[in-house]
Amino acid sequence: MTTSTNAPTGPGAPAPPVPPGPNGEAGSVLHIDLKAVYYGKFKAVRDSALDVKKGTITAFIGPSGCGKSTVLRSINRMNDLVRGFRFEGKIRFRGRDVYESAVDPVAVRRYIGMVFQQPNPFAMSIFNNVAFGLRLNGYKGNLNERVEQALRSAALWDEVKDKLRQSGLALSGGQQQRLCIARAVATEPEVLLMDEPCSALDPIATVKIEELMQDLKKKHTIVIVTHNLQQAKRVADTTSFFYVDTTQGGRTGYLVETGPTKELFSNPREPHTRDYVAGAFS
Ligand SMILES: Nc1ncnc2c1ncn2[C@@H]1O[C@H](COP(=O)(O)OP(=O)(O)O)[C@@H](O)[C@H]1O
Ligand SMILES: [Mg+2]
Repeated sequence: MTTSTNAPTGPGAPAPPVPPGPNGEAGSVLHIDLKAVYYGKFKAVRDSALDVKKGTITAFIGPSGCGKSTVLRSINRMNDLVRGFRFEGKIRFRGRDVYESAVDPVAVRRYIGMVFQQPNPFAMSIFNNVAFGLRLNGYKGNLNERVEQALRSAALWDEVKDKLRQSGLALSGGQQQRLCIARAVATEPEVLLMDEPCSALDPIATVKIEELMQDLKKKHTIVIVTHNLQQAKRVADTTSFFYVDTTQGGRTGYLVETGPTKELFSNPREPHTRDYVAGAFS
């Protein structure tokens, strides 16, 4: 997918004017106040609000089709690229609504990067994959240093330092996903969105990414979608449970509750959450 990078898509021109705003609600990097999201006439998500605190990992959990990816992709305006997509509400990034008319969605993605379910390195060398967004941004510093730093941040440097000119596509699945993480963090986004980043990976590669996330959160605020409840328990400080009640013929998802991960799993407030975390359905 050509849109799968957090990097801006324009020429290496000067950065367009955008967020971040000065400061958000105390300690909050993101404040999501979603009223509705539509794909054409279909209302995919309704009434969902949450705050994301700086330096934390927030997990979105819930059954398939409840809108986790839709909400995640709304945060950095990735869904703008989908025909018929319409967002109602506000998403404040450090106090500024990313849906304000003056805001360039491409620039939003520079501050709020993304990693996808399927590792999707570009068909180019490892080095160029990581340098991609930096070049587009017209980065003037030492490219070699910055690429190394990003690969170190993604816990990949030691494995690839002697083959930076080889194709990113020649790496294993787990390495490819860490390359995508390196590519995403190279431009130093404040927020990193991850949509089921481990679901295509084996258990060992999954553990590596989970460990890596604990390092990444020192520099980046992370929001991750996962269908794996154990993963949410292992990595997330905060967990948000989404649900879609299809029994009445409805298909509109919504955020049921958000809480500290331990509490949400051990003492959920809402019956739907209780059923879900008890493994009643998946
Ligand atoms: N690009 C799209 N066009 C139309 N409908 C979509 C699109 N993406 C998702 N949907 C629908 O929106 C709802 C929420 O989907 P999604 O956000 O992918 O859920 P989840 O990630 O929780 O599985 C589903 O009913 C899905 O079919
Ligand atoms: Mg999804």
